[in-house]
Amino acid sequence: MEKVIKKSNGLKGEIIIPSDKSISHRAAIFSLLCDKPLNIKNFSKGEDCHSSLRIIQQLGAKVEFLSEQEIKITPPKEIQEPNEELYCGNSGTTMRFMSGLLAGQKFNSVLTGDESLSKRPMKRVITPISEMGGKIESNDFKAPLKIYGQTLKGINYNSPLASAQVKSCLLLAGLFADGETSVTEPYISRNHSELMLKYLGADISWDKTTVKIKKSKLKAKDIEIPGDISSAAFFLSAGAIIPNSNIKIKNVGLNPTRTGIIEVLEKMGANLKIENEKEINGEKTGDIVISTSKLKGITIEGEIIPKLIDEIPVIAVLATQAEGKTLIKDANDLRNKESDRIKVMVDGLKSIGANIEETSDGMIIIGKTALKGGVKIDSFHDHRIAMSFYIAGLLCENPIIISGFEWVKISFPEFEELMEKINK
Ligand code: S3P
Repeated sequence: MEKVIKKSNGLKGEIIIPSDKSISHRAAIFSLLCDKPLNIKNFSKGEDCHSSLRIIQQLGAKVEFLSEQEIKITPPKEIQEPNEELYCGNSGTTMRFMSGLLAGQKFNSVLTGDESLSKRPMKRVITPISEMGGKIESNDFKAPLKIYGQTLKGINYNSPLASAQVKSCLLLAGLFADGETSVTEPYISRNHSELMLKYLGADISWDKTTVKIKKSKLKAKDIEIPGDISSAAFFLSAGAIIPNSNIKIKNVGLNPTRTGIIEVLEKMGANLKIENEKEINGEKTGDIVISTSKLKGITIEGEIIPKLIDEIPVIAVLATQAEGKTLIKDANDLRNKESDRIKVMVDGLKSIGANIEETSDGMIIIGKTALKGGVKIDSFHDHRIAMSFYIAGLLCENPIIISGFEWVKISFPEFEELMEKINK
């Protein structure tokens, strides 16, 4: 689907940001392991999270929709052997989490994905799962993954990557392994798995960048999903750079392992205020008010990268409107996402008039530039690329066309409707 995006005269009003994708995945997958039925409120409408829901059904869970976004999950007494392949769609989170969960079961299973997911690296989970005694056959470390259920033993894994998907895969394997499993990361990645597993009664503890878990049965408790800061990031960035804007974004998840985008906006000098802070099942939330701001370029590197990894495409757009140089470093794993997000953002922004260069592990952007537009840009089957260029398009002198815009539904089907609501 092609979408034409025209220059905006300003964003004004209030929106409620839809539910967090990462936390929705965890709620679906962990409820399969609970002792009793539980309800999940505000479950994501994104296709990725529905891939996780479909798979837990194939493994024996009963999923009932009480309303469009409230679901009741009844876990099976024991996880059931699936009678078909388990299709993860576009979702790396589903595939990496499920490979940990399935490695320690008493049956074999196969995980498959769409074309993009079948190109993404799975060695990062296959290597540590093999160290635990697991057996996964792959297509040169890519999907499909054939998982031969084994008795697993706990290991102390020193992860070379700060990746919540790798960490969560091992925590799920650790729930079924003999002894203790620990994961140490170079920097802390999002800790939603730790928080939710603790909330559901798992034998889990953490200290700085190390998490430890022992075999446990989870105790059902209702879960409410906060709004997704990664979705809010598109509105936050747009609010800061589109002239005549002033918006309030409500119910944003503010877990400190995810708030890199707020740190960046504050460091760049954005007019931003957080109100109404609360906590729901261990996760912080709040409302954010942002208005058009005079921004300056900054360096984004090291420890903050995992806290804003999914926001880098839209941060690149933001940086085109900041005075001076923005340097993004240590983000080479961006090349392994749904597309090579470094290359795709640099090529696309260059084509609409930005002053931007690709580096091996990030990019250099010099601002502030008036974006010209007037071109067609491909989403490369990547939801965050489509939404980032939508924001860029709102600033361009001439309309841009985004092809493959339908990929937005992977994480944020409500994106355009919300944007149209505040685009005056
Ligand atoms: C996610 C972790 C991140 C992120 C992805 C969701 C998660 O991936 O990019 O969108 O829910 O755990 P990595 O762990 O590969 O960095």
